Amino acid sequence: MNIFKRLIVNGLANSHICPLKIRLKLYNLMGIKIFPKEIRPNCYFNSEFVSIGQGSFVNYFSQFHSGNDMNGKIELGVNCYVGMNVTFCTISHEDGGNIQRAGRNVYKPIKVGNGSWIGANCVILPGVTIGEGCIIAAGSIIIKDCESNSLYAGNPAIKKKSL
Ligand SMILES: CC(C)(COP(=O)(O)OP(=O)(O)OC[C@H]1O[C@@H](n2cnc3c(N)ncnc32)[C@H](O)[C@@H]1OP(=O)(O)O)[C@@H](O)C(=O)NCCC(=O)NCCS
Repeated sequence: MNIFKRLIVNGLANSHICPLKIRLKLYNLMGIKIFPKEIRPNCYFNSEFVSIGQGSFVNYFSQFHSGNDMNGKIELGVNCYVGMNVTFCTISHEDGGNIQRAGRNVYKPIKVGNGSWIGANCVILPGVTIGEGCIIAAGSIIIKDCESNSLYAGNPAIKKKSL
């Protein structure tokens, strides 16, 4: 995302003074093709490679750290709910050796199935697919795929029960 788009997306559209309808319009005009019913202020978008389905809801301070191609895409289905301060992180690093451990950037996509609910303060790591109809408990770190219609919780998150 160029610096102009970044300013509009992360400086204007996400502010409290920007009404919801204008916020969603600005995101789409800047190339972020998302159709949620609501995105609250102070969310962050790193690139255009994000899709959010109809009926979805994103709460305050959530962050979409997508990359610059399909490998770094973040896809949320329809009717997904995202709590406060959730981090979707498609970006990691190769082991760069002991002079600088954080080596070359590596991107893996993230998918969240229709109808899932991600609680506040969760972190969704690169390459993860969360199935449809899941609940991810507040504060969980998701390091691997989650089966549909299941509750996951903890760090690292494990399946607690079927729903
Ligand atoms: C997950 C949640 C909805 C509770 O669901 P529930 O079906 O009532 O689950 P239970 O209380 O029966 O707990 C099931 C298991 O998950 C564990 N668990 C529940 N929430 C947890 C959490 N946040 N972190 C770690 N473990 C958790 C319980 O300890 C229990 O573990 P056990 O079976 O090993 O004893 C609730 O704990 C939660 O995290 N809500 C999110 C609130 C939020 O983020 N709101 C933002 C608004 S969008």
